[in-house]
Amino acid sequence: MSTQDAHELKLYSPPEAAVKGAHVSGMEAYKKLEAEAEADYQGYWARLAREFLTWKQPFTKVLNESDAPFFKWFEDGKLNVSYNCLDRNVERGLGDKTAIIFETDDGKVSRVSYKELLSRTSQLANALKAQGVKKGDRVVIYMPMSVEGVVAMQACARIGATHSVVFGGFSAQSLRDRIEDAGAVMVITADEQMRGGKALPLKSIVDEALSLGGCDSIRNVIVYQRTGGKVAWNSAHDKWLHEVVASQPATCEPEWVEAEHPLFLLYTSGSTGKPKGVQHATGGYLLHAALTTKWTFDLKDDDVFWCTADIGWVTGHTYITYGPLALGGTEVVFEGIPTYPDAGRFWKMIQDHKVTIFYTAPTAIRSLIKAAETNPAVHPKNYDLSSLRLLGSVGEPINPAAWEWYHQNIGGGRCPIVDTWWQTETGGHMITPLPGATPLVPGSCTLPFPGITAAIVDETGHDVPNGQGGILVVKKPWPSMIRTIWGDPERFKKSYYPPELKGYYLAGDGASRDAERGYFTITGRIDDVLNVSGHRMGTMEIESALVSCTELVAEAAVVGRPDETTGEAICAFVVLKRPRPTGEEARKIAAELRNWVAKEIGPIAKPKDIRFGDNLPKTRSGKIMRRLLRSIAKGEQITQDTSTLENPAILDQLAQTN
Ligand code: WTA
Repeated sequence: MSTQDAHELKLYSPPEAAVKGAHVSGMEAYKKLEAEAEADYQGYWARLAREFLTWKQPFTKVLNESDAPFFKWFEDGKLNVSYNCLDRNVERGLGDKTAIIFETDDGKVSRVSYKELLSRTSQLANALKAQGVKKGDRVVIYMPMSVEGVVAMQACARIGATHSVVFGGFSAQSLRDRIEDAGAVMVITADEQMRGGKALPLKSIVDEALSLGGCDSIRNVIVYQRTGGKVAWNSAHDKWLHEVVASQPATCEPEWVEAEHPLFLLYTSGSTGKPKGVQHATGGYLLHAALTTKWTFDLKDDDVFWCTADIGWVTGHTYITYGPLALGGTEVVFEGIPTYPDAGRFWKMIQDHKVTIFYTAPTAIRSLIKAAETNPAVHPKNYDLSSLRLLGSVGEPINPAAWEWYHQNIGGGRCPIVDTWWQTETGGHMITPLPGATPLVPGSCTLPFPGITAAIVDETGHDVPNGQGGILVVKKPWPSMIRTIWGDPERFKKSYYPPELKGYYLAGDGASRDAERGYFTITGRIDDVLNVSGHRMGTMEIESALVSCTELVAEAAVVGRPDETTGEAICAFVVLKRPRPTGEEARKIAAELRNWVAKEIGPIAKPKDIRFGDNLPKTRSGKIMRRLLRSIAKGEQITQDTSTLENPAILDQLAQTN
């Protein structure tokens, strides 16, 4: 959406019911918080850190900028994340309150109270210690969506081990790379995971990852028995989770760690080949997780909150494992997929669990719109969604048409939608409406979260006026920001703090603000990162996976093209080591290459289109002209100047689909 459109679009003022009693109620309240942060930036964050978190040792220093851009927050304070999420709630009298409503793929429901979550976390924490895991050790978690997954993360936090969750859809190779980079001492996994009625392997992928080499740091593999499916067993290091926790006491003294202690690493794609381990700290991260859950989702004691993300992504970290629990909330955790047993699953679950706040991704909404249009039986109107009072969107831009459908058909026209812009690196929401304050414009994530200094600048770091597009930056450090890239501080500096941007954090997205309200609209990545179904994929990563198929592939270039459902689709241009295939042969090789990429990275990285050429369009100096490839992928006529191209004839060839 261009900023021009924003003017013509309808403005949705917060309904009275949303304003009344909201934690941030009315625009004046929002402005007051903004003014407080502007008048005394450190004082503002210090106040919130004292209000939202329980400190074992209070901090006296707020922000240390002496080693910028390696900022430190609350550095002389000590706390424990799992204490803040569990014990504290039990101590406040919430022990019997439901923390998690868990629903399995096949619809079985169980409830876990705060008391029970605490004892299960403590038992596992004790078991990890018994296996020799110490403060600062890295533990890789490769788990299905489950209470055990949340418990595994909380147990690491309890003993000061740094977790690194790897999404269960990543391949053995990707898992291996992450284990090696993190130098992990343990993997916590499951025998299998259930998704859409199918049992998919996890443990055997861990076995394969370890067999690929480079994982000598791993001492133990702890296996949660989910399905009882058959697994290979290496008695030297494999242990069942239920066996290692069985003899452990249900209490465990938390390890009080410094606020800057690394809580987790989470690998994400960047512009270059290798995924980077985004490192988050303890205190600042938990503060923003709790604060944004409270203000953006306006979470109250009697809410039932449901974030549909997987714990393998940052959204699952912040808005499943940490934020809602830090506030003593009740949340739904779902093992399965939105289309099983049918595409009415989400709506049925909202009805069954009386969900009040629902947070999902535009891709899911778009695919469920399609499903509802083709199969009236799964249309949301068949379900009672009257418990909902607030909706959220995350991961990619939400197009106004999908927004309107979500608003009408799911929210019954009465629920505000919070379109939350943020990233793995930012830890929590950065630009988002607050439901009781901000008038909404479909397709716009509206205004910065109070205290977040988001801005739009040009290549030299100068502000661009509202109404013009530019580079999205954050001017001042904030508590939940990335601390570094694990093991590669230089890459951290280069990626996020390039010298020409005057010390601003570079988000990697383009954006604009409308002239009238200063509302932000995100226009998409400005680097070589694609956003496919809300998942970040580096084009270089996919290219290197393709060329690693050395038997077949000589050269490959990957670009994105817009896709109605997935936002962007992956399009690969490939030069083979054999003559360019056509027809049936081309389709066969394309299928082979798709499977190859799935094996190298994971099914989410499979290119949708693969086109073969005798060559790729290059400048005379040998540089691949990606902007031309982008046009071809979109099916556009080439109107750009091709005079610098060494081999213009190649363009027609690449424009042909198989
Ligand atoms: C994109 C997911 C538009 C953006 C939390 C960002 C969005 C990347 C939005 C981060 C949104 C996320 N509107 N674009 N509301 N939210 N993005 O690290 O390009 O998986 O840089 O974090 O997703 O993806 P990540």
